[in-house]
Amino acid sequence: MFKDSKIYVAGHTGLLGSAILKRLKSEGYRNILTITHKELDLIDQKSVEDFFKKEQPEYVFLCAGLTGGIIANKTYPATFLHTNIAIQDNIFQASHTYNVKHLIFYGSSCVYPKNCLQPIKEEYLLTGEIEDTSDAYAAAKIVGIIACKSYNNQYKTNRFIALIPNSMYGPMDNFDLENSHVLSALIKKIHEAKIGGWDKVILWGSGNPRREFIFSKDVADASVFAMKNAGRFQNTQYNLGTGIDYSIRELAEIVSRIVEFKGEIEWDTGKPDGASRKLLDSSKFLNLGWKPSTTLEEGLKTTYGWYSKNIPKTA
Ligand SMILES: NC(=O)c1ccc[n+]([C@@H]2O[C@H](COP(=O)([O-])OP(=O)(O)OC[C@H]3O[C@@H](n4cnc5c(N)ncnc54)[C@H](OP(=O)(O)O)[C@@H]3O)[C@@H](O)[C@H]2O)c1
Repeated sequence: MFKDSKIYVAGHTGLLGSAILKRLKSEGYRNILTITHKELDLIDQKSVEDFFKKEQPEYVFLCAGLTGGIIANKTYPATFLHTNIAIQDNIFQASHTYNVKHLIFYGSSCVYPKNCLQPIKEEYLLTGEIEDTSDAYAAAKIVGIIACKSYNNQYKTNRFIALIPNSMYGPMDNFDLENSHVLSALIKKIHEAKIGGWDKVILWGSGNPRREFIFSKDVADASVFAMKNAGRFQNTQYNLGTGIDYSIRELAEIVSRIVEFKGEIEWDTGKPDGASRKLLDSSKFLNLGWKPSTTLEEGLKTTYGWYSKNIPKTA
């Protein structure tokens, strides 16, 4: 990637896309292509084809997609399946047709079986049943991973790279409880409890499941590293995590400390827990010479700083 290479960041207004945009700009890349959802609906195959024909991007970070928590995934599985498959398929095909040099696609840790050996290695894909609460979204992501391999195999290239970041968090995350992931939901609930002066906050589940989180800035950094080193990648997906997981209870305690909520945390054990652990084995990616640099505490402080400046004002 040269500083004047044409780089398309699809989904640049989202959690990851905004972090990649910031990272590219800070490194002096000056030919970055972005377009909003309103201006280009990536579900529309003809519009995507026309856009690539006109703009001829050389590198693509495919951060556009529909993401959400358990409630949204259970309520709108067909929408999750259709939106994600359509966006990725349109962008893969247009990238192939218009000779994109390299593209990075993002899968998700929910592609792996729900009862998986831990830490989860790349080769465990399709070795067991996936979690049913997010099966439609996961199926779309599995299609994306296989599509990357298939384009590379059929056209004898190594153009498409599939990364599997574990749960991401950071500025520009979605804090709407219907659509949010666990960490942004924890921040919002605990912040509201503090502002409301409540003496306790009730959180979903037992607090026992363990999850691994990676700061969006680190995923952006890893993505730019992957693009620069694309020639060293094999034709398989690469896990991307920190190697450290926390129980939801530990997370709630850390968030309470950062938010300065002094009340109690009560667990609603009637609500589902999901998989007991989801820790990725990211050694394949780390062995290429990259490592994350943000601790959970640092990332959460930055995220909470962004949240408290931006969201409560508009809510
Ligand atoms: N968040 C995580 O924890 C996580 C973990 C692993 C993998 N991933 C994957 O990483 C990628 C980025 O995730 P994210 O959390 O950054 O997502 P996000 O914050 O929800 O951002 C998604 C982006 O895609 C755009 N978009 C959605 N539908 C579109 C459409 N039909 N046409 C054009 N643009 C559209 C959104 O624009 P609007 O907001 O304007 O609709 C937004 O810019 C996704 O593929 C996701 O599956 C995410």
